[in-house]
Amino acid sequence: MKKLIAGTLLAATAVASTFSVVAQDKNALMKRGQAVYTEYCKTCHQANGQGLGTVYPPVAKSDYIKNNPKATIIKEVVKGKSGKVKVNGKEYNGVMTPIPKKYTDADVAAVLTYVYNSWGNPGGVITEADVKKAVPKR
Ligand code: HEC
Repeated sequence: MKKLIAGTLLAATAVASTFSVVAQDKNALMKRGQAVYTEYCKTCHQANGQGLGTVYPPVAKSDYIKNNPKATIIKEVVKGKSGKVKVNGKEYNGVMTPIPKKYTDADVAAVLTYVYNSWGNPGGVITEADVKKAVPKR
């Protein structure tokens, strides 16, 4: 019986520490992501992700982010995106230039984790490995 309790406790501790590692990773990504967003994305998508006029679509509560695979969003941020796109019922037809090379795959992971977890977007974590998988060559 004692052994069983000890085992259960051990298992619970292991689970708890796995969670806290994940939480810490996410916090670090969020912090770095916010810095990248403020330095780079904000110029176009604005401070609260609300976008600007008819030119820059919102990344706040974006149905485009919600309805597309993460790999698509990663690719578009890394490689750029142009042409017609509908976001939250409004049509845009602009050009998003590729993210400058000085931002690493880890920076892309961080900024997207930040966007996915801000302003009513669906949440989740995007890792550096996800970025490498979506865009093997930069
Ligand atoms: C130079 C301005 C500019 C910058 C900087 C920029 N974007 Fe964009 N972004 C655009 C435009 C314009 C579009 C729409 C492109 C189109 O019409 O196909 C867009 C589209 C998007 C979309 C898909 C549509 C939506 O609104 O959900 C996402 C997601 C996105 N950008 C995220 C980002 C992130 C994250 C960054 C920073 C790493 C960033 N953008 C930096 C201009 C920009």
